[in-house]
Amino acid sequence: MDASAAAAARAAELRALLQHHAHRYYVLDAPQIPDADYDRLFAELQAIETRHPQLRTPDSPTQRVIGQVLAGLSAVEHAQPMLSIRTETDTTAAGAEAFDARVRRELRLGDDDLPVAYCAELKFDGLAINLRFEDGVLVQASTRGDGHRGEDVTHNVRAIGQVPLRLFGQAPPVIEIRGEAYMRRDDFERLNARQRESGARTFINPRNTAAGAIRQLDSAGMADKRLSFFAYGLGAVQGWAQQPQTHSATLDAIAAFGVPVCAERAVVHGAAGLVAFHRRIGAARDALPFDIDGVVYKVDSIELQQRLGFVTREPRWAVAHKYPAQEQTTRLEAVEVQVGRTGKLTPVARLLPVFVGGTTVSNATLHNLFELRRKGVRVGDEVIVRRAGDVIPEVVGRIPAARAHYVRNFRMPGACPVCGSAVLRERGSVEHRCSGGLFCPAQRKQALLHFAGRRAMDIEGLGEKLVDQLVDAELVRGLPDLYALDVAGLAALERMGDKSAANLVAMLHRSRATTLPRFLYALGIRHVGEATARELARHFGRVQRVMDASVEALQQVPDVGPVAAQSIRSFFAQPHNREVVEQLRAAGVHWEEGEGVIDGVIGGATAEALPLAGRTLVLTGTLPNLARDDAKALIEAAGGKVAGSVSNKTYAVIAGEEAGSKLDKARQLGITVLDEEGLRALLAGPPPPPPPTP
Ligand code: IVH
Repeated sequence: MDASAAAAARAAELRALLQHHAHRYYVLDAPQIPDADYDRLFAELQAIETRHPQLRTPDSPTQRVIGQVLAGLSAVEHAQPMLSIRTETDTTAAGAEAFDARVRRELRLGDDDLPVAYCAELKFDGLAINLRFEDGVLVQASTRGDGHRGEDVTHNVRAIGQVPLRLFGQAPPVIEIRGEAYMRRDDFERLNARQRESGARTFINPRNTAAGAIRQLDSAGMADKRLSFFAYGLGAVQGWAQQPQTHSATLDAIAAFGVPVCAERAVVHGAAGLVAFHRRIGAARDALPFDIDGVVYKVDSIELQQRLGFVTREPRWAVAHKYPAQEQTTRLEAVEVQVGRTGKLTPVARLLPVFVGGTTVSNATLHNLFELRRKGVRVGDEVIVRRAGDVIPEVVGRIPAARAHYVRNFRMPGACPVCGSAVLRERGSVEHRCSGGLFCPAQRKQALLHFAGRRAMDIEGLGEKLVDQLVDAELVRGLPDLYALDVAGLAALERMGDKSAANLVAMLHRSRATTLPRFLYALGIRHVGEATARELARHFGRVQRVMDASVEALQQVPDVGPVAAQSIRSFFAQPHNREVVEQLRAAGVHWEEGEGVIDGVIGGATAEALPLAGRTLVLTGTLPNLARDDAKALIEAAGGKVAGSVSNKTYAVIAGEEAGSKLDKARQLGITVLDEEGLRALLAGPPPPPPPTP
C-alpha cells in the first residue's frame, strides 16, 4: 500500500469513527470517549485532508457540524446558522501565536501595522443554546443541532433561572443571543451527593449532566438540576439602531439586557496579549466555579470580522485555544487496597499510565467500596480518569463495553493487606478499617508522623520518607523507640548523612521537653484534637488522672462528648498504650504537671529545656565532618548561640584542624576546648532526667 492509499484508508476510518462518536456525544448524550480523544481524531483527519485535499469529501465531519434532531423534540430552523469554531490543540503559547499570525496574514497586515485587538473569553464546557427574543420577550430556545436545524428546548431553558424571560431596557424587535448552558461544579457536587444519599447512580461530569437535562422531552428533569448560562455572541438581529461595532461592546450590551456574560473576559492586543490571557486563565482554571476546556479568541472589530469571513463551517476570526485535558481514558489494570492514617482502607486503581491534567497518572483513588460499586468498574475496563488541579486523581466512571464474563467484582479483603489484622466496618459507615491499631505498620507510620507533627512533639526533620525507612528497617516499632535512635544508627540509613543524623538526634532531644496538652495530642487518640487535649490537660492536670478517668469523669470535661470519652477510655484501657506512656517518660519525655500550670506552658517546649540553652560557643578551625554553617545551625537548634570571639562568657570553644588565635585565647582564659565529637555529646544533652513522680 503506497502512502496516499494508506492516507485514504485512514481518512475513511477516521470519518467513520468520528461520525460514530459525534452521534454518541451530540445526539445521544452518551459519549464513549473523552472530548480530548475526539479532538485528537478530528485533528488527525483535518491534517490528512490538508495534505491530500482530494480526500476531503462533502460528508467529512470536518465539513459540517454533526448532530441530529432527536425524534420527539421539534426541529427549529436557525435564522442564522450556528457555527462552530476551529480548535487550536497546541496548548502552548504557539497556539495563540499561530492564530494571530494567520489573522494578520489574511488582513495583509505588515510588521509596521498595529497589533490586532482581540476579545478573549473562556470556553465554557456545556451545551450551545440560541435564545430568540422578540420585542424583548424570550420566544424560543434551541440547541445547535447540525448548525442549520436544532431542537426546540424552550420548555427546559425557561427552567434555567439565569435566562431572563424578558430583556431589560430598550431591546431591538428581534435579537438572538447565543451562549452556553452549563452546570457549576458545586451544583454538580450537590446533585451527586443527593444521588449518593438516595443510593442512585452518580453523574459523570457537569457537561453531560447539563446537556442531558436540556435535551429531555420532559422539563421535570430540570427540577433537581441547577443549570447556569453564559452568553458569548449573537444570532439573527433586526432593527438594532445602535448595534455595537466591536464584539466586546456587544457582550457589554448583552450583559446590560440582563443576560449573564462571564466577567472573565478582556480586550487584549496581539499575540502577546493572547498568550498572557491564556496563561492567566490557565493558572486560575482550577479555582473557577465551573469547567472550561480552553479560552476563545475573537477579532474584536466587527468590520474586521466581516473582512475575514468564513471557511466552510468556521469563522476565520475566532479560535478556541485549549488547555491540557483534565479527563482521559485508560485501562484499569488492577485494584489495590491502601491503608491510611486511621486504618482506613482505600481501593486504589492501578492504571495504564496516562497523561492527564498536565502529569502522568498511574494511580487514582476509588474512594471506598460503595463508590467503586456504584461506578461499576472492574479490572480490564476502559475507565475515565479525572485530575483537576491539586486534587488527587480519581476514576469517575467506565466506558461501557463488553467484558470477559469471568472478571470478578472487587471485594474488600477480610484481612489488612499490611498487617493481616481483621478488617471491620462500623454500622452505617462506608469505610472499612484495619483493626490492627499500632500493630499495623501502615498505621504505625501515621502515628509516628502525627507524634512528630509541629503541633504535637514538633520533631523537625522526621518526615514521611524517614518514617518509612525507620519502620521498614524495624528501627522503630513504637513511639518510645524514637528516643533510642542515635547518630550512628541513623547515619547508616539511605540518604541520611552524618549531619542530618546529628540534626535529628538534636531535634529528638529537644522534643523531650514538652507540655501536657501537646503530649496528650501527640498520642494520636481518635477524637482528641488539639483543643480537646488542652481541655483534658486543664481539667485533670496530670497524665495519670487522664489515663485512669472513667467515661463519666471524662465527659465532665468541656469539649469532650460521649464519642471522645469512649475513645479516650478505650485507648487507655489497652495495656499497650499505657506502656507507651510509661516508656516515653522513661525515655525522658517530660512536662509540667499539676493544677494551674497548664495555661502557662501551652503551645511550646520551653527554651530552658534545650541542652545548650543560654550558652555561647565559639567555633575555630575546620571540623572533620561539619561545615561551619552546619555546626552553627546545630548549636542554635539546641538553644545555644555562636559568637565570633572568645571571652569569659564563652561556655566552650569547638576547635578543629588549623585552629588559630581563638584556641590560644581559650587556653589563656581556661575555657573548655572540645573537638567535633565533644560538640556532638553537648548537642545530645545530659542523660535524661528521671521521670517526675506523678
Ligand atoms: S463562539 C462563530 N465563544 O464552543 C462562533 N463559543 O465550537 C461561535 N463555546 O459550540 C462560537 N464558549 O458552544 C464561542 N466563549 C465562547 C464559547 C463558545 C464555549 C462553545 C460553543 C460552540 C463551541 C465552539
